[in-house]
Amino acid sequence: MEYNGEESKYRPVELSRVSVTYKDGRRFITCFCGEEVSHSIVPHLKKCHREKWQDWEKAFVILKNHGYSWKKIMHLFSAGDGKLLFSWTVIENSVKEVIESGRLQYVPIPKEMVKQWEPNNFSLEGTTVWDFPRRGDWAIHSGNYRGNWPPQIPRNLIIRYTQEGDVIIDAFAGGGTTLIEAWLLRRRSIGLDISKLAIQTMKANLSDMEELAKKDDRISLDSNYRPVVINANALELSNVLEQQNVNNVKLICAHPPYLGSIRYTTNNEEDLALIRDPDIFYGKIRDFSREVKKILTDDGVCAILIGDIRRSGEVVPLGLNVLNIFVAEGFKLDNIVIKTQNRDSSSEFWVGHKSNILLMAHEYLFILRKA
Ligand SMILES: C[S@@+](CC[C@H](N)C(=O)[O-])C[C@H]1O[C@@H](n2cnc3c(N)ncnc32)[C@H](O)[C@@H]1O
Ligand SMILES: [Zn+2]
Repeated sequence: MEYNGEESKYRPVELSRVSVTYKDGRRFITCFCGEEVSHSIVPHLKKCHREKWQDWEKAFVILKNHGYSWKKIMHLFSAGDGKLLFSWTVIENSVKEVIESGRLQYVPIPKEMVKQWEPNNFSLEGTTVWDFPRRGDWAIHSGNYRGNWPPQIPRNLIIRYTQEGDVIIDAFAGGGTTLIEAWLLRRRSIGLDISKLAIQTMKANLSDMEELAKKDDRISLDSNYRPVVINANALELSNVLEQQNVNNVKLICAHPPYLGSIRYTTNNEEDLALIRDPDIFYGKIRDFSREVKKILTDDGVCAILIGDIRRSGEVVPLGLNVLNIFVAEGFKLDNIVIKTQNRDSSSEFWVGHKSNILLMAHEYLFILRKA
């Protein structure tokens, strides 16, 4: 399936024969084959029109490669009567599934230009409240990897806790925000992630960065500091680094999933975001803290960003529990930073349903030392 720039070519013709109706508050969908299903058409498509569904999934990936947002794809794939057929999370999860299965790759079109390589008037944060109303968009940073942290966070950590040439690890590297900063700031870095979408995003971002820098007089990127990207589990950090012959790690950045608030893969057993039970999650965090201890230099720092979530309206205090685990494992707490957050989708629903529910507007950044 080739992409020729005309998005309408990606709108399957059958969609014009699909319609959505509501009866007594319930949603019914009439498929192009004539069958009526309730709630969602996806199980029916998977069961009765498997090949077609796989073609549609491929189209989602191709559109994503061409820079379409999940929402734009959602609208393009609406029913014949203009009503929305798939939620954007269905589309996002299908793309993740296709990429995870290896059926297709995420190959985004390269960026054409960089507005600026470094932030304007950057100054280090000096208090325990960090507020970044605008995500930094210097170099090739963008919000295109879901759940990524703003580049201001790794920039602060790298400048404050490391020197030029030091080794930095991001154990949950996602779209590679930390690695981009490490390269700009001339530090060696390694990023691990279990998701193929994350690995492909990082690789694409780093080669974009390299190509753009080559033809730009404003920057000279040192190839000795080109970040290394590894498809591996954060819980196997020490083995992975041993294989890479890396020691002397000065800074470990960790921005794990907040339990299942965002799904990164659909069925990868190593994905911490697929864990339902908080106690199992805490067990994995304990294992991770032991890995951190093995590889960090004695004067090294581990920085963890984590937020709490709500379940059935109640707070699951991931932040406090993760902190306690690290402290129980012998880490010293240098700072608790409150990072302001502007969207709390796990509380939004409950605000209207239970009284006295507040929207959570902060995450925690714990700065821990090994000794
Ligand atoms: C919150 S995101 C990190 C985003 C990152 N800070 C960025 O700026 O792009 C969490 C990441 O952890 C990854 N992940 C989940 N379980 C993992 C594991 N066991 N080992 C390594 N990475 C994991 C997910 O695939 C996801 O990319
Ligand atoms: Zn059908």
